[in-house]
Amino acid sequence: MYLTKEEEKILSGDQGFFLSKAMKLLVTIGDLFNADKLIQIKRSQVAGVSYKTAGDATLELLEAMVKENTEVKTYATQNPAGMDLLKWKDMGVPKDFAEKQLKICNAYEKIGIKSTCTCTPYLSHNRPRFGEIVGFSESSAIAFVNSVLGARTNRHGGLEALSAALVGRVPLMGYLLSENRMGSALVKVEFEPKNESDYAALGYFIGKELKVDEVPVYEGLSHPSVDELKLLGAASAASGSVALFHVVGVTPEINRMKESQWRNKIGCTLHVTEKDIKSVYDELSTNEHPDLIAIGCPHCSLQEIKEIATSVSGRKKSSKTEFWVFTSPEVSKNAEKLGYTQSISAFGGKIFGQTCIVVAPIEDMGIRSVYTNSAKAAFYVPRMTKGKCVARVMPLKECIDLCSLH
Ligand code: F3S
Repeated sequence: MYLTKEEEKILSGDQGFFLSKAMKLLVTIGDLFNADKLIQIKRSQVAGVSYKTAGDATLELLEAMVKENTEVKTYATQNPAGMDLLKWKDMGVPKDFAEKQLKICNAYEKIGIKSTCTCTPYLSHNRPRFGEIVGFSESSAIAFVNSVLGARTNRHGGLEALSAALVGRVPLMGYLLSENRMGSALVKVEFEPKNESDYAALGYFIGKELKVDEVPVYEGLSHPSVDELKLLGAASAASGSVALFHVVGVTPEINRMKESQWRNKIGCTLHVTEKDIKSVYDELSTNEHPDLIAIGCPHCSLQEIKEIATSVSGRKKSSKTEFWVFTSPEVSKNAEKLGYTQSISAFGGKIFGQTCIVVAPIEDMGIRSVYTNSAKAAFYVPRMTKGKCVARVMPLKECIDLCSLH
């Protein structure tokens, strides 16, 4: 792979040990995938923040970077942590976990990665433009910025995204190249999604059906909202690593192409019916009554919080089930200003920022059964808790009915 003089210098350690290691990682990946060169980026999203997934090794690495005054070269934001950094006691997070978590977030902050701790940085200040090349980790954010915004990122792991942020570059390969962004599988949607979790179930089903690196093109979705696309993308990224999808008549890249241009590239066609969607609800299921209803995977937008606030207005939650909403600190602040937080509190629910149901240590917080409108969360909760917790996917309105006093 071609390297500029400056890149060679970084590689040889001119800008410190950690930048040299970061460059080495990116060059190795670039060489493996036949990238011609590195390309500069201005934005990053760095996953591997929760102490649950990052562990002591990441904490040690970050603290060593801080000691060496290492700093990122991009506008970089952190993915969700294992707890709300302020309200962790309210969540019931164990103290020893919280102490480590705060150290991780502080260390990231010190090397220049903002502790927004959200998987929807694109709803706030870290929103790439159409065509912009970025270095994002977090599978749901990758799917969203590639598909809904038409920006370009590869599927980076946490350490890779951190390296890209440190050197301000990524190898030019994969989804950064136009030829790899064409749709390869046509998905004919032969049912009418009735709610947000039907979109999540559709994404989950397609992720499982497709081979790695396939790019689905959905046909037959007439008017998905941005939030529904967010759930769809997150689910297909979770069940099948889908990093990019197109929706005919909706998403920006396919909208700019002639129909013959993309139809020529399609290699296979899938038909999705009501029966397939039902199979997802059957798979991501449990009969155990929920201890917790968790909404906000990916993190809720302001619009979603408004919808929750409207749906719970005038109702009261039963004490048997907790009702938690996860979002970014910025959306949370706006929700408070607009009175949505107060409506959700009056119902008996809580809003937490900077964390989510999947990366919080819920198995140590007295939670066993989780209901959620997100197929991604329902898929990951049992896996991330080593089977200690169970989960079920269910539309928001049904979740609210289930935990309301009648
Ligand atoms: Fe975001 Fe956590 Fe879901 S990081 S996409 S809310 S698993």
